[in-house]
Amino acid sequence: MKGSHRAPRIEWRLLSRFLSILGQHRTWIGSAAASTLAVTAVSFAGPYFVRAIADSAIAGDLRRVVVLLLASLGVALFESGAGYAKAVSMATLSSLSIRDLRNRLTTHIQALPAATLDRYHSGDLVSRLNSDLDSCETICRRVPDYVHQPLQFLGGLTFMFLLSPKLTLVTCAAMPISVFVFERVVRPMQQHSAKAMESLAATNAAMQDAIRGAPIVRAFNLQHVLSEHFHTLAKTLERHGMANRKKGILAWIPFLMLRYIPQLIVPLYGGYLAFRGEISLGSLLAFDWLIWFVFLPLEALLAWIRELRESSPALARCYEILDAPAERRGGNPVPPVSRDGAVAFDDVTFSYGGADVLDGLSFHVSSGRTVALVGSSGCGKSTVLRLLCGLYEPRTGEIRVHGQPISKAALGSLRSRISLVAQDTHLFPISIADNIAMARPEATRDDIVAAAKAASAHDFIAALPDGYDTLAGELGNRLSGGERQRIGLARAFLKDAPILLLDEPTASLDTESEARVLEAIRRLSQGRTTLVVSHRLSALRDADEILVLADGRVCERGTHESLLEADTLYRRFYEQQVVSAQGPALAVEEA
Ligand SMILES: Nc1ncnc2c1ncn2[C@@H]1O[C@H](COP(=O)(O)OP(=O)(O)OP(=O)(O)O)[C@@H](O)[C@H]1O
Ligand SMILES: [Mg+2]
Repeated sequence: MKGSHRAPRIEWRLLSRFLSILGQHRTWIGSAAASTLAVTAVSFAGPYFVRAIADSAIAGDLRRVVVLLLASLGVALFESGAGYAKAVSMATLSSLSIRDLRNRLTTHIQALPAATLDRYHSGDLVSRLNSDLDSCETICRRVPDYVHQPLQFLGGLTFMFLLSPKLTLVTCAAMPISVFVFERVVRPMQQHSAKAMESLAATNAAMQDAIRGAPIVRAFNLQHVLSEHFHTLAKTLERHGMANRKKGILAWIPFLMLRYIPQLIVPLYGGYLAFRGEISLGSLLAFDWLIWFVFLPLEALLAWIRELRESSPALARCYEILDAPAERRGGNPVPPVSRDGAVAFDDVTFSYGGADVLDGLSFHVSSGRTVALVGSSGCGKSTVLRLLCGLYEPRTGEIRVHGQPISKAALGSLRSRISLVAQDTHLFPISIADNIAMARPEATRDDIVAAAKAASAHDFIAALPDGYDTLAGELGNRLSGGERQRIGLARAFLKDAPILLLDEPTASLDTESEARVLEAIRRLSQGRTTLVVSHRLSALRDADEILVLADGRVCERGTHESLLEADTLYRRFYEQQVVSAQGPALAVEEA
């Protein structure tokens, strides 16, 4: 049998890991187990009462009939109560367990290395937290049935045997046929289910992109292209969903067969046995009830197999994330100050998976100095800053911060020594004050305002409708690029770390704002080691040293003046900028 089906099987290992989460809520497990056992035990009272009442009625014992009727009413009430307790315990247990899994997933996603996150679309990850977890919850809610139904099956079968072994054997003969047919029909289900989940994730991701890129979509009149794309995705989703549903409907055929056969056998063969006096009428009625104790668990078993197959890909998608290795923990603390050089790259080689971005990069920055990184777009300047923050690990070579090799440093300690003002400042959809305070959560409002003032951000923030309490909007979309950048700088002021990494800090600013931000950066750089990446020469002039990157390494180094004196790549950058700043006429004049 092994390998004869192309569809993947139920992941039993993942399933047992998943179900072990339930173990954390012992009280609810206890309550679910007690109520499940009570429901199972009391369910056998039904056929017992039917048999006893029918036989007493036939024997004309009316007193006994009344007593039995009253007793059965009491038992029915108790069964309802136990059933309610079972449903409530299980609903609570499964929602608590899914909450635990969701928390573990969100915590783990935050601990994943940047290189792992690069492989996933955020919409795909969000799908795993929503629809995939919903699918897993169905498995959870079934757990008491895994106990209740087999017990009912065994009890029912025993009871049936006690009533009439012959009728039991004949009635059960149909079982293996239905199970076999079901296996054949249901086994390929899982494959479709995985595809349905993947297309749902792809649709979510595409929708997220379309909403984020709405201005671009409109500016380029791309609505119809996107609509077509969505329609294709919706069609794929519908096709996979429909394939799932069709197989589900088909799976009901053996269900119906399972029900139909005993329903016929009991009156026919049972009636014959009763006629011959081998079984009482009460026993026959009880038997007619008991067949559901045997066949319903069997149907449930087949339904579980289908559900487990359907949910298995969702479970696998969740555990794929949970099992992805997290960023390394532990390591040595990075000292807050250093006499021998703040930052050092020694023969560092790095790639994101394709061609090398850095190829034998070496440079040292002494404490308190400002070093600028220059180079053409895509040459790896931002990559240098990302490596310094420990977001990615170099393939070869060593990076040291305050003398501590990053490969052996505790990442938390390393990052506490660094303030990064990224090329594109990411803002969260919370207030501007809270966005700044992310750099130091314990900061007071006065600290936040002081940082914003130092970053030349106070004036525009104060002019906003709710000032510092104005919401930044999704991805900071209620602010301009320059305003976002100054909030990024305010964060750096507030963090007050000894090493400052600035990635194109003035790229989105007009000349006047640029002058103010440069002044802010000058203040911020004082007493700190600063690495600034910029295409703007105005931001480079203050640097103690300029490193020009090309082909993944430092190809030129010196001060602004010394680099301009020789025939350097830097001089060509400079001349191009002067030409574009002064206009073509002036450039021709100068030439
Ligand atoms: N996450 C990533 N995965 C794969 N490749 C990447 C990733 N980030 C950057 N790259 C590639 O690595 C190279 C260097 O990127 P980097 O962002 O460091 O360039 P840069 O020098 O900062 O450019 P710019 O001046 O345009 O900001 C580029 O070719 C880029 O396409
Ligand atoms: Mg960059």
